[in-house]
Amino acid sequence: MDARQVNAALRKGEAPTPEMLAWFAQGLADGSVSAAQAGAFAMGVCLRGLDEAGRAALTLAMRDSGRVLKWDLDAPVVDKHSTGGVGDCVSLVLAPALACCGVYNPMISGRGLGHTGGTLDKLEAIPGYTTGVDEARFRRVVAEVGCAIVSASADMAPADKRLYAVRDVTGTVESLDLITASILSKKLAAGLEALVLDVKVGTGAFMKSLDEARALAQALVGTANAAGCKTTALITDMDQPLAPALGNALEIDTVMAVLSGQAKGPLYDLSVALGADLLETVGIADGAARLEQAIDGGAAAERFGRMVYALGGPLGFVENWQRFLPEAPVIREIPAPDDGHVAGFDGEALGLVVVGLGGGRQVETDVVDPAVGLSDVLPLGTQVAKGQPLARVHAAREEQADAAVRAVQAAITIGAKPKAAKLVRERIGA
Ligand code: URA
Repeated sequence: MDARQVNAALRKGEAPTPEMLAWFAQGLADGSVSAAQAGAFAMGVCLRGLDEAGRAALTLAMRDSGRVLKWDLDAPVVDKHSTGGVGDCVSLVLAPALACCGVYNPMISGRGLGHTGGTLDKLEAIPGYTTGVDEARFRRVVAEVGCAIVSASADMAPADKRLYAVRDVTGTVESLDLITASILSKKLAAGLEALVLDVKVGTGAFMKSLDEARALAQALVGTANAAGCKTTALITDMDQPLAPALGNALEIDTVMAVLSGQAKGPLYDLSVALGADLLETVGIADGAARLEQAIDGGAAAERFGRMVYALGGPLGFVENWQRFLPEAPVIREIPAPDDGHVAGFDGEALGLVVVGLGGGRQVETDVVDPAVGLSDVLPLGTQVAKGQPLARVHAAREEQADAAVRAVQAAITIGAKPKAAKLVRERIGA
């Protein structure tokens, strides 16, 4: 087999066979497929699509491109994964909350992808937090704390690691097939009993329409259940940022506000909804009440602190998080250009503002600036007067802040009061 054959089949609109896709995944993992070939492959799949058999073959081959974990723990091993959004820091609230509810959550997460933020980049804003740990340490933290959020080790789903980095910088993220294979290769390699997927829909998501999101949710749920992992999906709103902050340290600050009982809102509500669905899958009743109690009573914050410390972060982070998080040197208010209501967000444009500030990557080798981003983003429907701040920009340099102010003003529509959006649009069961 030859990478040119696989890419030529895609170019001509001929569905690559499962054997071809399995060969390609192996080549990604062992380095025999080059970055140029991987980029062409990603674009080919985006443009031409795979059939159901091809999607399943690519997913399983990417899972089997590395090590597949097995657990021997005294409670269900579960996880949640999001298809990606802006201000989406649910994982950081949910993992420690789940750990308080009688399940284990070994969470293998990703970095920023396209305009969306990545859980690993967010956690690395915490000084010392190490996302790349070996398997023995990962297992120890999961067993002792109940949750651990880490990157896939070099030998887990290595095919995804390479393709993910290529897709991030080649405009090839928005593919039902590639998103399915990417998410599920990691999640199936983690040896989970159950999984809940947060499939985002809206301007800040990869899937902009409900039909696209539904098709992705069905592909994910079907492929995962066929591979033996009990999986459900919630299709959730991404027409506005989930949290009022976008950017790595700024999102950690928002998470800590929720875990310490200082804030509620959509981030809290969605964490509970996803967690309750997952707990129900493994037969644990009253999931919503249990999760609320874990968050409101401080137990989830305590678990988060233990996880941070066990993975190299500071002792006492939870009590004093603001002291540990980096701050950008330039902080500027973004004035509303008119009177009216916050009527709409271009979520992708907002995400790209953060990438442009240095909070994400333009090329694979970029180093992320943890301090930059947006905070105090007003929610949809808020009434504003001209000049009132719509948000704050946190930048490394004055000229970057100037550009971000203009871009955010262009990404937020001021107009008539919009209809309130439902946070959870649909549920897709097995
Ligand atoms: N999350 C992933 O891990 N992969 C994708 O392709 C999209 C979201």
